[in-house]
Amino acid sequence: MEELEEVKNKIVEFVKVCNHEKSLELLDKLATGKMLRSKLILKIAGINEESIKLCAVVEMIHAASLLHDDVIDEADTRRGQPSVNALYDNKTSIMFGDILYSRAFNELSQMDKKVAYHVSNAVTLLSIGEMLDVDLTNSFNTSYEKYFDMIYKKTASLIEASARSAAIIAGLDVDKYALYGKNLGLAFQMIDDILDITQDSATLGKPAMLDFVEGKVTIPYLLLHERVEDKAKLESLYKKELTQEESSWIKEQMIKTNALNDSVLQAKTIGNEAIQAVKDEENSQSLVMIMKAMIEREF
Ligand code: FPP
Ligand code: MG
Repeated sequence: MEELEEVKNKIVEFVKVCNHEKSLELLDKLATGKMLRSKLILKIAGINEESIKLCAVVEMIHAASLLHDDVIDEADTRRGQPSVNALYDNKTSIMFGDILYSRAFNELSQMDKKVAYHVSNAVTLLSIGEMLDVDLTNSFNTSYEKYFDMIYKKTASLIEASARSAAIIAGLDVDKYALYGKNLGLAFQMIDDILDITQDSATLGKPAMLDFVEGKVTIPYLLLHERVEDKAKLESLYKKELTQEESSWIKEQMIKTNALNDSVLQAKTIGNEAIQAVKDEENSQSLVMIMKAMIEREF
């Protein structure tokens, strides 16, 4: 997609303002992801100077959050490539995250006031979401409410703000698009949590079945815990390096109890709610496609 190239060029342009060679070198080391947020913004607001800028700002904030997240999670890979903390060190990852984050905010301060308000607010939410995520790994969480509150803040808030901001720029019905963005974000994180169990590490670009080892009780595990016969066994495997046999047992139980299938169903229900919100909008067909592709993705 040519317009995504425009977004990437805008990010380079924004980083060049720093007049700092190492920042450009580090930017080059970041593996480009799916650019879901940009695709969403461009579908809602069309391709113009303001929407490309908004995409660049949101992608830079997202990249900054991942630079920090990989330090917090001690992750060596990001999108199948070595993470910046692995290639350089934690300090570099944090500092470069700060550079991207503050450059994005500097540009955001020159944009529409409402856009600046909602995007900056989303960054507070995602930072709180990350803290909730880390705190939830202290003990086996069995609360759906805590899980959904955490994934809303950690993942959906920035996607919601992206959709809302794109609708503001384009003069569309802001609330409908915000709801679409929120649910796209929730479903996105749920699918991510499902793929952690169903996919292998080569497909994921990171170790597979890592969430439970790291103490994350995601939606499939919440359902499994409620339904599995041998609860004590499941609990005993929490935050443990799993043997081949143990991960196979978990996967078998996930299938037997329908925990995996029902997690996908829940993500689809949330996705359908989003589609209902925008069904009478002019661009609804492409929003349906974004949702479908996101739910049916394999990594
Ligand atoms: C990935 O989660 C992490 C996030 C979506 C948000 C992280 C947010 C912060 C670190 C707050 C700091 C923000 C800024 C802008 C400085 P994950 O670990 O579940 O997903 P992963 O498997 O992709 O790592
Ligand atoms: Mg992480």
